[in-house]
Parts: sequence; structure tokens; C-alpha cells
Amino acid sequence: MPASKVLIIDYGSQYTQLIARRVREAGIFSEVLPCSAPEALILASGAKALILSGGPDNVGDADAPTLNPLLLSLKVPVLGICYGMQLLAHCLGGGLVNARDREYGPAELTVTGASPLWKTLLTDKPFTVWMSHGNRVTRIPEGFSAIARTPALDIAAMADEGKKLYALQFHPEVHHTQNGSRILQNFLFDIAGLTPDWTMSSFAEQAVREIRAKVGNDGVVLALSGGVDSTVAAVLLHRAIGDRLHCIFVDHGLLRLNEGEEVTALLKRHMPGLNLHHIRAESLFLDHLAGVDDPEQKRKIIGRTFIEIFEREARGIPGVRFLGQGTIYPDVIESHSAKGVVIKSHHNVGGLPEKMRLELVEPLRELFKDEVRALGRELGLPEEMILRQPFPGPGLAVRLLGPVNRERLDILRAADHAMQQELSARGWDRRVWQSFAVLLPLRTVGVMGDDRTYENVVALRVVDSIDAMTADWTRLPSEILAAVSSRIISEVHGVNRVVYDISSKPPSTIEWE
Ligand code: XMP
Repeated sequence: MPASKVLIIDYGSQYTQLIARRVREAGIFSEVLPCSAPEALILASGAKALILSGGPDNVGDADAPTLNPLLLSLKVPVLGICYGMQLLAHCLGGGLVNARDREYGPAELTVTGASPLWKTLLTDKPFTVWMSHGNRVTRIPEGFSAIARTPALDIAAMADEGKKLYALQFHPEVHHTQNGSRILQNFLFDIAGLTPDWTMSSFAEQAVREIRAKVGNDGVVLALSGGVDSTVAAVLLHRAIGDRLHCIFVDHGLLRLNEGEEVTALLKRHMPGLNLHHIRAESLFLDHLAGVDDPEQKRKIIGRTFIEIFEREARGIPGVRFLGQGTIYPDVIESHSAKGVVIKSHHNVGGLPEKMRLELVEPLRELFKDEVRALGRELGLPEEMILRQPFPGPGLAVRLLGPVNRERLDILRAADHAMQQELSARGWDRRVWQSFAVLLPLRTVGVMGDDRTYENVVALRVVDSIDAMTADWTRLPSEILAAVSSRIISEVHGVNRVVYDISSKPPSTIEWE
């Protein structure tokens, strides 16, 4: 266990895991605990510093989370962010007001007081920070001084240097905050005196320990898709519990051309000791999906059918009590929201039936995609597996708009295959985050030879991204677009038009459904 450990207390912000990620990037081990965590857990954590996250509530409201006094009694440096700052102010005798309008977006921060938090920053000019808050601190508690302001806030940051208590109204963890990582590192290294001693190999060791503690002597069935997430989860689980892990690869008939055979061959080659069950269930999925065109319905049906199959398979294996999944952090946040708005039900989170009989084990739940890839390398997986583009659990069903059937799937598979071949021949498949074809529920008029055609439209989606939370459309060279388009139109029966998607995320999403 690394000696330097930070406890992040979660008050419900969407950014909490981003804080954990920034701390990990600085080489410091961190653990996220809900603000309601039992005191014994806090005491046992051995944390050398605390970060209090943001959150959606109004400090002081009857049902709003409060600051557990135990946290301050640990006498370790504390950094409160947004709600965390307001909690510190409220509990230590400062004053707050509930602003009429929520301040959301960029703000120009001016440093007004010296602090080790600002070390090595150029503070003679304002810099941009990201705000997302309703309440604000209007009176600082005794012992604190205000150390930054913005045009809208007199107290945008405050510190009690003696007690090593620090608070920021803005979010240093988000990418849009200039100097954000530096500010967090100043807190971790200069203020808390931590030394970076956390690596991917320590994450792997920790994950293996946690899996063993949770699973005990029982068995796990893992949903293995061949994508990097579930493959890395499989390697970790296999390390932890050996042949009590049963990997189930479900070919739901929504895979890309030849994918089922290719993936299972790759898995057998690189992970020879693995229990691998290859289930062919195309007809079952297509029967359940017949006539359904609503995207959320499709996701829910696919999620349910997956789970039905896992449960059935698991029943045939003695001692299985857990369902393993390669769920990663972006799946978790986009399937949950403080206000109950679900962006998409990613099949491995939101689509789970309530009365599932298996318990979940999700060792990658806190990681972002690039971290999963780094972990895969650490665990010795070949680049061929690590560099596979993400592929959604519901597969081609969410890339085929309108009802799903074999005929349309075959058209989409052929178009997608032609596109992939053209891109990989030029090395572009590895330069982009994702590239795929989408079959639209439209037909348009064309002309082939002397004949009028009335056929399908295929959209090409190619995006660059770091973690799928945001994405930009890839500026593919026009000659490549031309090659892909003419290959699809000349080779794929039933398609007479190809368009290129030029939308970013947000406001669009990467997948069309
Ligand atoms: P969106 O479309 O939400 O996608 O911008 C973000 C990333 O997640 C992938 N994705 C999924 N992955 N199950 C998954 O395992 C799903 O249901 C799912 N839906 C989207 C998508 O391909 C992109 O990389």
C-alpha cells in the first residue's frame, strides 16, 4: 500500500472521480468515500490529506450533507472544493448566501493573497477557472484569509495556513480550469508533503486484493466482449481468483463483421488458461428487438437479454455468486445524475434489471479509458487488444437507427467493414478514438448507370477523444473520405449515399443512439 494516501469525501458532484483521477495522475493513491461513510472507515483509512468534493445541495438545507467533525479532528490538510468550501465556511463560523442564479462556466480568477496553493503560478494576471455553484461564501471564518476573487465573487478561495485548511469555489479538477492540476499538486506536495509513490502496478495489486476480499471462495461470471475494458477486468479477476472466473462471450448478432470469431481466437491465444464460454444468441436478441426503434428501449432490452443469459449460464456453474463487468467511470456518470436525468443507459449499469440475482464486481469502475489502457499494458496485454476501439455493449443496435433486423444489420456490417479497411490501410484506425458507420432510417434518390435508385444512407462517425466525456469530430483528409464513400457506395448493396458527421460531444454524443 502506498504511504501517501488522500481521502476524497464525495458530496455528490459529477466531478468527484475527476478529482480522484487528478490525484492519481500526480502519483498519489486516493480513495473516494461517500460523505455518509462510517467513521470506522474514515479512521482506518490512514489518509494523509482530505479533499471535500463539490455537490448539488445547498449547504444548511435540512437534507443537505453536513461536515462530519471527525474529518477535521484528523488534523490533516484539507482542501474543500465548491460545496466542500461552503461546508468549511458554514461549519467553521463563516457566512453564506444563496445566490439567485447559479454561476456556471468560466470565470477570471485574480489571486489576492499569497498561499502555497499558488506556488509557481503566474499570478500577476487573472487566469480562467471553471465555476458551477449556487451558494457563495460572503464571510470567511476566523483564522482564514481570502486568497482569490473573481468579478462575481469576493471570496473565490480562502485559506487557514496555520491549520492547513484550504478552500476553492472553482473546480481545479476540470480541464477548463487553467493551472488546475498545478493547484491540486501544490496542495498534495507542498502543503500535505506527500510523495508520489502510486503507480498502475499498485492499482493492480490493490484491485486484486479487493476482489479477493469481496468474492471470497465464490465464483464470478464475467461479461467478456473482447473490448479493452472487459478484457482488462478479466485479467485482474483471473489473477485474483484463477479458475473460479468464468468468462462469457455473448455473440448477440449485433457485432461487426467476423468479430465473434476474431475476438474469441484472440482471447484464446493470449489468455490460454481462461474459462471461456462462447454463447451464440443472435436469434434471441433479434426476436426481443423486433419492431423496436426507441434507443432507450433497445438498450434496456439488450441489457435485460444479456443478464438473462448470464444468469442462465451462471446457474450451470456451481458456486457462482457474482457478475463481473468491465464498467468504467464514464459509464457510471452518464447513467446516473443528481437530478435524475439519464443521458444514456449504458447497458452495464442503467439497464440492469432490479431483481438481478447476481452481485456485481466491477474492478475498473473508477478508471477512465486511458487509465484502463495503461493498466492493460501493465498487466502485459498485447497492443492488439489494448488499442481496440471502444465498442458499445448494445453493439450495432445503437448504430442502426430504427428497427433492428438481419437484413439491415448486414448492410451496416458491410459498410462498416469497408470503412474500417480503408482507414486501417492508411493507419487512421489507430489515430482516432473511434470510427464507425451508422445506418440511417432514411432512403434517398440516386442514379446508378441509367437507373434511378432509392436506397439507404450511411453516416460515417469518426471522433478524437481522451476519455469519451468530450469528443471532437476528426478532420479526416478529404481523399480518405472519398475512398471510403466510393467503396461503400460501389460495394454495399442497398446504400447510395454516404455523409460525414461533423458534430462534437457535447452537445452531440459519440454514438447516434
Ligand atoms: P456516447 O455515445 O455516450 O458514448 O458519447 C461514449 C462512449 O461510450 C461508448 N458507449 C457504450 N459503451 N455500453 C458500453 O460499454 C454502452 O451501452 C455504451 N454506449 C456508448 C461509446 O461507444 C463511446 O465510446
